[in-house]
Amino acid sequence: MRETELRPLLTELAASLFQRGYAVGSAGNISARLEDGYLMTPTNSSLGRLDPARISKLDLDFQHIGGDKPSKEVFMHRAVYLARADAGAVVHLHSTMATAVSCLADVDQNAPIPALTPYFVMRVGERLPVVPYYRPGNPDMEPAIHQAALGAKAMLLANHGPVVSGKTLIDAVYAAEELEESARLFLLLRGQNMRLLTDAQRAELLGHFG
Ligand code: 13P
Repeated sequence: MRETELRPLLTELAASLFQRGYAVGSAGNISARLEDGYLMTPTNSSLGRLDPARISKLDLDFQHIGGDKPSKEVFMHRAVYLARADAGAVVHLHSTMATAVSCLADVDQNAPIPALTPYFVMRVGERLPVVPYYRPGNPDMEPAIHQAALGAKAMLLANHGPVVSGKTLIDAVYAAEELEESARLFLLLRGQNMRLLTDAQRAELLGHFG
């Protein structure tokens, strides 16, 4: 998609996420890959009130070349793009339910949310690693995110929130929404006798939609 189309689309999708409570205050950041670089939400901006003309532009080396100063999480997005040639966009949120799961100490740190529904498997994918805690904006997390992204489209940053990639910006946003709703289902059902999708059912989904 061209930059002239991506700027208004990113603004619209970010506002939609904000209006539905997936982001509050100035939390969260979104980026999208262009032929000649990347678009990224500016640091300290509200996803609810982006100005398409002021969205940060980075060159192919992730250097700031236009718009407002980019998110302090540039390296987080870079880690995912460099690990995943198929990633066209990255969405980082502090959405409540996924962030709640990122704070659970007693879940499988490779699969903190079980395969409850088809759309979780189809959109988020088979793997959801939990990356250890780092202070927001700490570049030291880049290798851990890169490593996690090599094997997964999405991850949870411990005690911080989800990072989700997709082939397109719309794919990444849909996956971030699906992850949040899957986390909500998991927390609703936690402690109850859950019927999970079987290995065969998951394999069928990945065969069709993976
Ligand atoms: P930025 O405002 O710099 O994008 O940071 C927000 C955030 O979500 C940090 O994790």
